[in-house]
Amino acid sequence: MSPARRRPLVLGNWKMHGLGADLAEIARIDAAAGALGVEAGLMLPAALIERAARQVRGLAIGGQDCHPAVEGAHTGSASAAMLRDAGATITLVGHSETREDGLSVAAKACAAQAAGLSVVICVGESARSADARALVAAQLRASLPPELDWSRAAIAYEPVWCIGGSAVPDAAHLVRVFAMLRAEAGDAPLLYGGAVDGSNAGELLALPEVDGLLVGRASRSAAEFVPVLEAAAG
Ligand code: PGA
Repeated sequence: MSPARRRPLVLGNWKMHGLGADLAEIARIDAAAGALGVEAGLMLPAALIERAARQVRGLAIGGQDCHPAVEGAHTGSASAAMLRDAGATITLVGHSETREDGLSVAAKACAAQAAGLSVVICVGESARSADARALVAAQLRASLPPELDWSRAAIAYEPVWCIGGSAVPDAAHLVRVFAMLRAEAGDAPLLYGGAVDGSNAGELLALPEVDGLLVGRASRSAAEFVPVLEAAAG
């Protein structure tokens, strides 16, 4: 983290969870983020975006993926313009649960920004590896469109072997990877994701170059997400 520490960015990823009945939970998270003064957002299933975006005050509402094409015969897909039209301001691309190759991630990032969305480009090695830093650097370079507007981009490092588990990598591993990400991504916000919860959020945010968190399971209820937001509020 640079000496002038920026306000952490905390994003939740609800994956394929969330119905209209969960809008009250989103309202509680929105209220807590506002009260704590934390920059936060929820990446929601496409079907929930419009209703959530209509009710939130400060919370960013985002998508979890977008198609690289503007429109077309792509059954089951959502374009970036559709997400934007529904009220999203941001989207993930390249999450390990949707990731194809770097070219496709770069094309999605490009499409997202062209539609007016900020973009979070996700990277991460699939298995525990001594070469993680080099693997992730190569993956990131392949996933960056040349025309990326860095002022509307963030990078999320999510080691796939931590997603859905209970442990995060050790600090030495994270320090090495985040130093590399900082060199590649300039001033863009760098997020850590994978098994983040209220018990480890503070430690993760204290690591050099970690500007924020991408939280899966622990973002789905205010009871679990608010402690993460509190850690971000310091
Ligand atoms: P998790 O998921 O926090 O449940 O490990 C993180 C993610 O996949 O973004």
